[in-house]
Amino acid sequence: MTPAILRAGYARGGNALGVSFGHQVKEGDLDTSTRVIVYLEHISVSFDGFKALNDLSLFIDVGELRCIIGPNGAGKTTMMDVITGKSRPDSGSAFLGQSLDLTRLSEPEIAHAGVGRKFQKPTVFENHTVFENMELALKTDKRVWKTLFAQLNSEDTDRIAQTLRLIRLDGQESRPAGLLSHGQKQWLEIGMLLVQEPKLLLLDEPVAGMTDEETERTAELFLSLAGRHSLMVVEHDMAFIRKLGGKVTVLHEGSVLAEGPLDKVQNDQRVIDVYLGR
Ligand SMILES: Nc1ncnc2c1ncn2[C@@H]1O[C@H](COP(=O)(O)OP(=O)(O)OP(=O)(O)O)[C@@H](O)[C@H]1O
Ligand SMILES: [Mg+2]
Repeated sequence: MTPAILRAGYARGGNALGVSFGHQVKEGDLDTSTRVIVYLEHISVSFDGFKALNDLSLFIDVGELRCIIGPNGAGKTTMMDVITGKSRPDSGSAFLGQSLDLTRLSEPEIAHAGVGRKFQKPTVFENHTVFENMELALKTDKRVWKTLFAQLNSEDTDRIAQTLRLIRLDGQESRPAGLLSHGQKQWLEIGMLLVQEPKLLLLDEPVAGMTDEETERTAELFLSLAGRHSLMVVEHDMAFIRKLGGKVTVLHEGSVLAEGPLDKVQNDQRVIDVYLGR
């Protein structure tokens, strides 16, 4: 598939409207009318001559739950770095929706456009309560102007309550985050992203270190988020990937080796050779 925007030849230097982006992404700039949220085409990223991403092309639909697997060093995290603006590709095109050129937006602009990222290590404020963590996340949501001293309105408290139920931390509002289990901290961090209502959630190894039960609950959570959000989940835990049940992309040496339902990629001899058979 070649996205219309790339066929039309405005891969670099402008967007569909011919508007060059200053330093502000406004509400409504994310155009997903083509039902695609992420376009990566022919992306290469090098570190000292080593190609971490090598002609990578990948498209994710709005509302999709996409799983990304592949051996260590395959380029999974680097791909997320390109989407969030942390790494700049040497070549290729990267778009959010139809017209937001990720190679030209800053990291804050990309976050503002609706991309939330969860790194592997939980980074919650341990000395603050669960509720205070959620409150801080809401108040640092750049889309809505709020000072840290402002009172939450009832819409805000409803949103926090609803999110806490979703991440199964309702009833734990006044607990210091530092006392939560590893899995609960991971959920809290996901909740802190969710109150900012991201369009796209990037989750790098979210169940690493979780108990089996926490992993199971995380799968249920992600399944409940798909549709309303688009999710890109990198994981090595194949039982978890199976529970998610979405389309799987296998990365190897910086490009896509195979893509499709898990059963199909699991039986692909090339995937067995480089990853699953080890
Ligand atoms: N900032 C950097 N400087 C130099 N090399 C880097 C940098 N970031 C990544 N790399 C290299 O790029 C390659 C891809 O790394 P990346 O972290 O994207 O792999 P990954 O698929 O996420 O692996 P893992 O499953 O271990 O997390 C690796 O060889 C890595 O050493
Ligand atoms: Mg990684």
